[in-house]
Amino acid sequence: MRHLISLFDISQQELHAILNISEQIKALSLAGRRPAWLQRRVLAMLFEKPSLRTRVSFEAGIDQLGGSAMFLGQDVGWQSRESTADFVRVLAQYVDYVVCRAKSHKSVEDLASFNVVPIINGLTDQSHPCQALADLLTMRQASGPLDGRQLTFVGDGNNVARSIALGCAMVGMRFRLLGPKSYFMPQESIDSILARYPNADIDQSEVPHVGLADADFAYTDVWTSMGQEAEMKLRQSAFRPFQLNAALLKHAHKNCKILHCLPARRGEEITDEVIDGKSSLVVEQAGNRMHAQKGLLIWLALQHDQLSASELEGSGIELPLGIS
Ligand code: CP
Ligand code: NVA
Repeated sequence: MRHLISLFDISQQELHAILNISEQIKALSLAGRRPAWLQRRVLAMLFEKPSLRTRVSFEAGIDQLGGSAMFLGQDVGWQSRESTADFVRVLAQYVDYVVCRAKSHKSVEDLASFNVVPIINGLTDQSHPCQALADLLTMRQASGPLDGRQLTFVGDGNNVARSIALGCAMVGMRFRLLGPKSYFMPQESIDSILARYPNADIDQSEVPHVGLADADFAYTDVWTSMGQEAEMKLRQSAFRPFQLNAALLKHAHKNCKILHCLPARRGEEITDEVIDGKSSLVVEQAGNRMHAQKGLLIWLALQHDQLSASELEGSGIELPLGIS
């Protein structure tokens, strides 16, 4: 059984396959074609934290592919009404996928440990792999091949930063984190990336002209993630010198593109001028959440023999999938 708890769950070749499917399905969608490749497939959504993009893009995405999604509220009693084993084994009788946004990464790992239904991580405190898929798709479409390019993440070494750091390693991009040292990514996160991808080029710096030198993409996220609200004041003061604004961007070259996973706290981690500027890819990036996740859902169906590559190719649509 295949899951996506983090990008460590897939190989580089599989990542490329997912991105290829996503790119093709996006092109079809923009041409007004919505092949029902996941007809009658059902996706359950289990969310412990708020969401706009993740929830709506999964719901719309599976619907456009002929399937359906159901949002599970607190009344289903996950982690309160019965054991995780009973909960997920029963859920697997009804649905084909589960997307889970959880306070703790371990909760998502626990669901996957029973191997009864593909579990997709919709964000935890440690990782946001669906966001990273969309980010990679966005960068690839904006700039072509990603190998040798650089992403500089400005701010907190958080869930989003860690996922895209791994994504960068998988596609041969340099990753730099620019922010206050006390909020760098933990060394064990970097070590785990290096253990799997020894050639990964990852560095962290507090110095703007070092961190932003050679950046093709400057990416930022909120300074205070969901669940860290008690630390907001402390974080606002620590991160203030690292606001992504026109002055900071003087340290990058003029073609540097801007990314933000959203939601943004405008005026904190990023200015209106930058997020709304000509170099900003953020709206397209949010749109790509749906296309990337459609690619992921199709790829998972292929892995579990619920769909065959010949079915896709036999649909009369030319779709170079790059699936081995
Ligand atoms: N970027 C992202 O995951 O947004 P939501 O929290 O709205 O899902
Ligand atoms: N780092 C943010 C991302 C939100 C999509 C959070 O975890 O709240």
